[in-house]
Amino acid sequence: MTIQQPPIPAGTRVVVMTGATSGIGARALEHIAAEPTTTVIVGARGTGRTVPAGVETLALDLTSLDAVRKFAAAVIARLDGTPIDTLVLNAGMQVERTDTTTADGYETCFAVNHLAHYLLARLLAPYLADDARVILTTSDTHDRKVTFLAPKSIDIQDLAHPAKPGFGMRAYTASKLCNLLTARSLAEQPRVRERDIEVYAFNPGFTGGTNLGGESSPTQERIMRAVVFPIFKIVGRFKPEYNMGTPERAGEVLAQLTTGALTPPEGHVYVSVLKGEVTYPKPGELALDDQLRDDLWTQSAAMVGLPALTPS
Ligand SMILES: NC(=O)c1ccc[n+]([C@@H]2O[C@H](COP(=O)([O-])OP(=O)(O)OC[C@H]3O[C@@H](n4cnc5c(N)ncnc54)[C@H](OP(=O)(O)O)[C@@H]3O)[C@@H](O)[C@H]2O)c1
Repeated sequence: MTIQQPPIPAGTRVVVMTGATSGIGARALEHIAAEPTTTVIVGARGTGRTVPAGVETLALDLTSLDAVRKFAAAVIARLDGTPIDTLVLNAGMQVERTDTTTADGYETCFAVNHLAHYLLARLLAPYLADDARVILTTSDTHDRKVTFLAPKSIDIQDLAHPAKPGFGMRAYTASKLCNLLTARSLAEQPRVRERDIEVYAFNPGFTGGTNLGGESSPTQERIMRAVVFPIFKIVGRFKPEYNMGTPERAGEVLAQLTTGALTPPEGHVYVSVLKGEVTYPKPGELALDDQLRDDLWTQSAAMVGLPALTPS
């Protein structure tokens, strides 16, 4: 950020968000930015996409842990003591094969979807307001009940450093399981509980028309609409999770969760959009494994160079 921003006025709701420049996050941002007395700071990697007027952007490339640290420091400097009301960790990506690593040496999908957001949550947790919200975008594809591509078991070290390149969708579903486990860990941290901070794992549901699988060419777009979407329409009759929703609806729900217009019932961390409706299903079996949850927290801390202490 080169332009000197005016101080944040007292009484302003502060939202810090990743993944707000495309797809579901961009639709959510339209609603959030339209809220009165709200300051939104978006972490963006500078792919030339625009944000609504008044939204502030700070550089963030989630493929680099150092960039995450610099972003967190820039957010803290910008806020200058004003606490964060909602932290929305929505960015995500998919890979075809797990054959690339980030500069930090971690498999790219695991590093971007999980590790970078884990670090960001840890670094910004002390700057959350009492009663703040943290939202991590997960996916119901973490769950074996939804797809056979969901993990049967998890070896955290192998996710970070795959012994051999594997299918990207499996890395994706595992990374989304990590988002849900991280939400559960964060919600359990003593300082988070003491300060009444709410933590949610948000599943937008299967959503067409985003850039998650990479930007489509006009021809690919036509094929999707003519062939792939109708197939999912048929499959969706038997498996509700395969009904394709819109970024507009998923973004609307994410915005409601962000602003507090939607408050899940007590005790529910997992919020899932199914056929356009907000539901609170039981997460998949691995997501409820407390040992795995704690191992992921501890091993992720070691990977980002933090102690596995409470985050705030
Ligand atoms: N679409 C679905 O069916 C579906 C289903 C369940 C869950 N989800 C989850 O929903 C979230 C949003 O996905 P989407 O479908 O809206 O996809 P999308 O259109 O591709 O949006 C992804 C967002 O993440 C950002 N991002 C990706 N890599 C980044 C990086 N290295 N550094 C900084 N930002 C990065 C993108 O920034 P750029 O604008 O720079 O590309 C974009 O803002 C993801 O977490 C995804 O896993 C999606």
